[in-house]
Amino acid sequence: MEKNWWKEGVVYQIYPRSFKDSTDNGIGDLAGILEKLDYLKSLGIDMIWLCPVYQSPNDDNGYDISDYRSISEEFGGDSAFEALLDGIHQREMRLIMDLVANHSSDEHHWFQEARKSRDNPYHDYYYWKAGTPDAPPNNWQSVFNGSVWEWNDATQEYYLHLYTKKQPDLNWENPKVRHEIYAIIAYWLDKGVDGFRMDVISLISKRLDFKSTPKNMAFIDVMEQHYANGPKVHSFLKEMNQEVLSNYDIVTVGEGPGVNLEHGPRYVSASEKELDMVFHFDHMSIDFGPEGKYDPIPIDWVRFKEIFRQWDATNSSNGWNSIFLGNHDFSRIVSRFGNDTQHRVASAKLFATLLMTMRGTPYIYQGDEIGMTNIEHPHIDAYNDIETRNAWVAAKNAGKNMAQFLKAVHRQSRDNARSPMQWDATPNAGFSNAKPWLTVNPNHSEINVAKAEKDTSSILHYYRKMIAFRKAHPTIVYGSFTDLDPNHPQLYTYKRENAAHRFMIVHNLGDTELQWTQENPEYIFCMGNYATLMKNKLQAWETRIYQLDIA
Ligand code: GLC
Repeated sequence: MEKNWWKEGVVYQIYPRSFKDSTDNGIGDLAGILEKLDYLKSLGIDMIWLCPVYQSPNDDNGYDISDYRSISEEFGGDSAFEALLDGIHQREMRLIMDLVANHSSDEHHWFQEARKSRDNPYHDYYYWKAGTPDAPPNNWQSVFNGSVWEWNDATQEYYLHLYTKKQPDLNWENPKVRHEIYAIIAYWLDKGVDGFRMDVISLISKRLDFKSTPKNMAFIDVMEQHYANGPKVHSFLKEMNQEVLSNYDIVTVGEGPGVNLEHGPRYVSASEKELDMVFHFDHMSIDFGPEGKYDPIPIDWVRFKEIFRQWDATNSSNGWNSIFLGNHDFSRIVSRFGNDTQHRVASAKLFATLLMTMRGTPYIYQGDEIGMTNIEHPHIDAYNDIETRNAWVAAKNAGKNMAQFLKAVHRQSRDNARSPMQWDATPNAGFSNAKPWLTVNPNHSEINVAKAEKDTSSILHYYRKMIAFRKAHPTIVYGSFTDLDPNHPQLYTYKRENAAHRFMIVHNLGDTELQWTQENPEYIFCMGNYATLMKNKLQAWETRIYQLDIA
């Protein structure tokens, strides 16, 4: 397996709106991130992935770009970006930008032109279907609810939008569109950016017959079988790689809704020359019930382990995995997978250990390093996220029990991950001196960076140690992965080994103690999340790393 800096490094993801506000308007910005670079460096991370910071009307908080070559004024504009990029490089870290190329904003000048007339030179930059306003071309549903087709009076056509109607899908069949995107990529890489996270890149090739989906098909299957992995996705990515990516020493990670075990390797195999990594969502949809995301079910750990095992086996010889348990689109790790009350500290440390000891590049989402939790707003009006709000309206229209739905929102809303970063115990959590754009979690008085810095047993200090541990041991980066107990419903033990060293990682994924005995007393205990180890049992959410090299 080829060695690379992006395999050895650790990524920290920033949601700029919620990280740090330097101008006191309640919205995070790039100068705010600059202020915190020494903090990020102190974690030991190597790469920073910034969610979109380009000009945008913010229908979907930056994932609707109206100008791909300019930085949003709200975030400080181009000069703030240059300063941030310099600051990152000065500290020997790298910057990964978010590239949203499946769709643009409807306020992008391409779309403004495209919608004017059928013979406008930009018309073919998007997908259009003639018809009548009362009969959309097929039954496709948007990821954010409602039809994917929006009527455009001027041309008497519908346009396609897999996300909101302000996010029209770009027509990748048109070589002009592809070359516009490649030029945008080159523009940022020439500025010195070190890579891209490519938004919903698995969706760029459409099945052009636009066949309706079977009635009552679960959305997750619609995604996989009808929207994602279209017939040309791999040829588009190969072209992109050849024409632009391969000219630079960078890293690429494709966001891959609907990417499955069959397609995964095609996106990331070194020999395919497309992308370096993908984010698949098999484990991130593990608690989606029969009616999807807002019908959550308990985590099945046997299935969880199976997913990690399968993806490791699939991408181990010729590709590479990304390892993540949360981001700006999901609720908080400790609330979702762990225990955010009694065992918050232990379970947050366990998942830090899991992230850092799997084979693949680990991604830390802002705030997880201090164990930030979900937030429960008493009323839907306090939610900003378009996906949550649309889901709410759809549930209401469907006659659902809305008290129960609010509970599902508490558990699953993307806003759980978007509440402002908790820097200290002051009224706005040290995020801003003004009222933040999204409510700060009231628990910031207890859970915040300043407090965690002072406590050497904090989650924050544990993250630092865990990142350093990973970096000190190439075996943890590159060594093989073996799941030792695939069928146990609560115990997760695996080995990471190569010719040089052998490690064993043990996790108790639950609130109850587990009988467990170290099989060989000579194993060397390296790290764990409890100060005192019991001889024959693991405590709630206990995690341990052992080195098995015995003289
Ligand atoms: C990705 C982003 C998400 C966004 C969507 C549409 O899933 O992570 O935040 O809403 O794409 O661009």
